[in-house]
Amino acid sequence: MRCRLSVHTLPVLAAQCVLAAAFSPAQEPRSTPHRIAVVGAGAGGSSAAFWLSKARERNALDVIVDVYERADYVGGRATIVYPYDNRSLAPIELGASLYAPGNLDMVRAVAEFGLSNTSFGIGNAEVDGFWDGKTIGGAAGDGQFIARYGLETIGNAQVAPQTVVGAVGSLYAPTRPVWNTTSALVNALNWAAMLSSTGAEFYTTQNVSRLFIDELIEALSRANYCQDVNKMHAIGVTIGLATTGAVSVAGGNRQVFENFVKASGATLKLNTEAVQVYSILPAGGRWILKSSAGVRTYDAVILAAPFHLSNIALPPSFSSTIPPQPYKRVHVTLLTTTSPSFNTAYLGAQNVITPPTSVFITLNATRRPGGPVFNSLQRLAVLNGTGKGGKDESLVKIFSDEVLSDAFLDELVGERGWTFKHTWDAFPILTPATSFPPVHVAKGLYYVNALEPVVSTMETETIAARNVVDLLLSEQFASGICPPGQELASNATGFVYGWDC
Ligand SMILES: *[C@@H]1O[C@H](CO)[C@@H](O)[C@H](O)[C@H]1NC(C)=O
Ligand SMILES: *[C@@H]1O[C@H](CO)[C@@H](O)[C@H](O)[C@H]1NC(C)=O
Ligand SMILES: *[C@@H]1O[C@H](CO)[C@@H](O)[C@H](O)[C@H]1NC(C)=O
Ligand SMILES: *[C@@H]1O[C@H](CO)[C@@H](O)[C@H](O)[C@H]1NC(C)=O
Ligand SMILES: *[C@@H]1O[C@H](CO)[C@@H](O)[C@H](O)[C@H]1NC(C)=O
Ligand SMILES: *[C@@H]1O[C@H](CO)[C@@H](O)[C@H](O)[C@H]1NC(C)=O
Ligand SMILES: *[C@@H]1O[C@H](CO)[C@@H](O)[C@H](O)[C@H]1NC(C)=O
Repeated sequence: MRCRLSVHTLPVLAAQCVLAAAFSPAQEPRSTPHRIAVVGAGAGGSSAAFWLSKARERNALDVIVDVYERADYVGGRATIVYPYDNRSLAPIELGASLYAPGNLDMVRAVAEFGLSNTSFGIGNAEVDGFWDGKTIGGAAGDGQFIARYGLETIGNAQVAPQTVVGAVGSLYAPTRPVWNTTSALVNALNWAAMLSSTGAEFYTTQNVSRLFIDELIEALSRANYCQDVNKMHAIGVTIGLATTGAVSVAGGNRQVFENFVKASGATLKLNTEAVQVYSILPAGGRWILKSSAGVRTYDAVILAAPFHLSNIALPPSFSSTIPPQPYKRVHVTLLTTTSPSFNTAYLGAQNVITPPTSVFITLNATRRPGGPVFNSLQRLAVLNGTGKGGKDESLVKIFSDEVLSDAFLDELVGERGWTFKHTWDAFPILTPATSFPPVHVAKGLYYVNALEPVVSTMETETIAARNVVDLLLSEQFASGICPPGQELASNATGFVYGWDC
């Protein structure tokens, strides 16, 4: 019980405090307040701090949270650039760009933090040109689309995305699963079969035609994750198909994560790299975190950075249980041009009457000697009057496996106003898998990014962080983000566990 004393309430409260003290059972000595470290301030770490603050408020906990981030900004792989480096122009997402209407944490955060949506600068799966290595074909109108693939295949292809989105929806309910290992969640959601098959294998069993798989599904898998439908697992492929109605946050998605940290009241340590986590007790329970800023002891540590991309040293008993996880190195090229279209002839396509504004790669194109030059090319937006002589410009985003040379870009698009190139390890390579990292690693040590080999989105990081905070609350305070008994208090539509109790 908490005893806040003032002159007027003193006699009553003082009496209650004495009673409470007299009746509380002897407790093992622990540090007061309870200190928690969160390593990483991307979607996972920032939301972990936010869920901890919700738990603290509802359970009246004496908890202090430090967030360590090696970069000089919050948001991790959600970050933006301004065309021409001009802050008067709308920024463009460089990494994680979209969230879907079913992403209830993102939707709720945008509303609660007073942010707004935009569809500026996101290539929202308007597939208008396929390059198969020889020609650029289109599936523009609905009529053509149905004629090419057939209603049966189109219908069959929609079943799995709906089921998968439905399964994710169950994670917001008061009755949601809570998981100590990624495998436990995979089983609860019935995803093991899809995770152990490639997208191509799985959609074949769904009676989706090979033509649809090789063209449309391949094109979207490459545009979303730069990976091949023959190599990527079926959950990853399916998440890429479920982006109808997706938007991004006006001014940048990372504002959601900045607001999570701000609202949490946590101490944010930017430019501070965590280098080692170790325990002073054999069974864990108290953890020492060594960072570029020094050494500090914590009651719990939440790892919210991809283990394989960080330089953090962990107890071998833990690090040995994380399966190897290669990440996909993605080269992003952003450019502006006054050219009305790119040079389709350069790609070997002749007689293109209406050049498409976006081009996606089919499986056949990947079989060309040397492979495809890029994974997708999308015209994302029109910039008003930024070109020479005040002309409007197209803003184009290209994903490729290699750095695109200026000479290549000159050939492909002609005149360019602004060009920006960035390379990073954007997401895990989502190969079929049957073993996954642990979430609850040891007493007081938790791993948020354990979900990434299954699904890697901003939203699923916030969901994984909420689960971790629930595990922590259960282990250390015999409670949850929503205290027991309160969690079923609302059946209101729009109920989202953690935001509502
Ligand atoms: C930045 O963009 C705004 C809006 O288009 C424009 O008015 C301004 O001149 C630009 N600034 C620079 C330095 O180019
Ligand atoms: C933002 O877009 C999402 C997804 O389409 C939608 O559900 C939500 O209501 C929108 N929020 C606002 C504030 O417009
Ligand atoms: C997670 O592990 C802890 C400790 O082993 C256990 O007490 C708890 O019941 C487990 N929770 C779930 C949801 O399996
Ligand atoms: C696919 O088609 C076969 C043959 O018509 C049928 O037996 C099977 O149930 C279908 N599978 C699915 C998932 O629709
Ligand atoms: C892919 O290429 C092969 C071999 O050239 C050809 O037989 C097949 O029809 C092509 N597939 C599509 C979907 O165009
Ligand atoms: C560009 O101008 C058009 C019409 O003048 C307007 O509808 C559009 O919103 C403008 N776009 C941007 C990004 O400012
Ligand atoms: C919410 O729904 C559950 C299951 O349908 C029911 O048991 C519970 O009483 C409902 N709670 C409220 C507050 O209506």
